[in-house]
Amino acid sequence: MRQSLVAGNWKMNGSRAAARDLVEGIKAGIGSVKKAKVAICPPFVYLADCAALLKGTPIALGGQNLYHAASGAYTGEISAAMLGDFGCGYVIVGHSERRALCGESDETVARKVLAAVKAGLTPILCVGESLEERESGHTEQVVARQLDAVLHAAEGSVLLAKSVVAYEPVWAIGTGRTATPQQAQDVHAFIRQRLAVQNADMARKIQLLYGGSVRASNAAELFGMPDIDGGLIGGASLQADEFLAICRAAG
Ligand code: PGA
Repeated sequence: MRQSLVAGNWKMNGSRAAARDLVEGIKAGIGSVKKAKVAICPPFVYLADCAALLKGTPIALGGQNLYHAASGAYTGEISAAMLGDFGCGYVIVGHSERRALCGESDETVARKVLAAVKAGLTPILCVGESLEERESGHTEQVVARQLDAVLHAAEGSVLLAKSVVAYEPVWAIGTGRTATPQQAQDVHAFIRQRLAVQNADMARKIQLLYGGSVRASNAAELFGMPDIDGGLIGGASLQADEFLAICRAAG
């Protein structure tokens, strides 16, 4: 049985005070989450505050991005080891906003997955198609290409055995338009099958998250699908009560 995971992607939201309040709110209710592993991914500058507040709780911390190099002249970048230094166990890699707005290629994303794993972090590798790609029938082709960049890299299946994959259709992110449970399940099953070709054991064990307009009102239905092991939550992770209700739905 795979444990479910719900990770909150705060993106570039909030303030120092709001971040502290949000962590306190999640901490206060975490006892009601019985089974799912819960993680939060605040902006870099709030990681230290959040790490201090999360000490002694079961809530894990993650970064929203990293740079693939270990150290050096990379102004403005953050390494995997630095995230580890601040108590991060997870890091989101290849989010569609970074692919679209910051020009991250499949190869860049694969390098980041490798750097994260090498530093002992669990990458949450994001894949997903745009609306145009879905409407033109290319969903599987796009998701396969994004996955294969990691899967076919050196030691790809070893890297993925230490990763989480989040399927996030771009047209569902922040739009209020969630994939139906069946649409999401179909792509999750496709991902698992594709991974199984390389390594059946890894494919059976890997946690596959769904992301894109998950709310307390639709989470149980999505998480009830056989290949959906939890969620990567954006907007709804900014309210403690809503986020906790989603975590409880991932029972
Ligand atoms: P959303 O974002 O829940 O606000 O749609 C999900 C994500 O981008 O990870």
